[in-house]
Amino acid sequence: MACRRGALIVLEGVDRAGKTTQCQKLVQTLRMSGKSAEMIRFPDRSTEIGEVINAYLDKKSDLEDHTVHLLFSANRWEKVPYIRRRLEQGVTLIVDRYAFSGVAFTSAKPGFSLEWCKNSDIGLPKPDLVFFLQLDPFSAAQRGEFGAERYETSDFQTAVQQRFDHLLLDASINWKVIDASQSIEDLHSQIRSYSEDVMELVARQPIGELWK
Ligand SMILES: Nc1ncnc2c1ncn2[C@@H]1O[C@H](COP(=O)(O)OP(=O)(O)O)[C@@H](O)[C@H]1O
Ligand SMILES: [Mg+2]
Repeated sequence: MACRRGALIVLEGVDRAGKTTQCQKLVQTLRMSGKSAEMIRFPDRSTEIGEVINAYLDKKSDLEDHTVHLLFSANRWEKVPYIRRRLEQGVTLIVDRYAFSGVAFTSAKPGFSLEWCKNSDIGLPKPDLVFFLQLDPFSAAQRGEFGAERYETSDFQTAVQQRFDHLLLDASINWKVIDASQSIEDLHSQIRSYSEDVMELVARQPIGELWK
């Protein structure tokens, strides 16, 4: 590759672990130090598929479970040309949730295997680094009440956490598990440091393919 590419860095974790807070801070800090960085989030509710997902999450519509899973996956695939283009332009992308959330949420439902759930995301651009913000349900509860969206119940979130625990065993992924009970600033300095290292490391490497 002639030019340096950006890194694909994902933040995952249960509800209220601090993903959005840390994504925003990371992009801000990277930019202030002169680096090219941008935040994206999944689901991306701004697309046509995203609108369908949004109505489902708001409980304004009901959809069959396999269908919903595939829509969340399609919502990532529709963004792939953009992701590749930006990475190749040297922009580091900080991603608020990715395929791991997709797999953890659907496989927490009865009758879904991890393998089936991973299938539709095989071949997505592979993250160079995935932070998993680990937070126990008690600490998460202290950060506020659940909202009214679908999936925002403690039983379901516990099941999601168990599915994440399985995914964390996947050695093909560059996981960095972080104790999310720390202060926002302490978390940020660790996340920033790991991110800057990986940006340097992958700048001249090709973009990988997830689960291939
Ligand atoms: N390290 C932290 N310590 C205490 N509260 C936090 C921390 N990080 C985020 N919060 C607060 O917890 C809530 C959830 O944070 P958010 O970043 O939206 O989490 P997520 O995107 O993972 O659901 C927000 O009110 C946020 O201000
Ligand atoms: Mg969030």
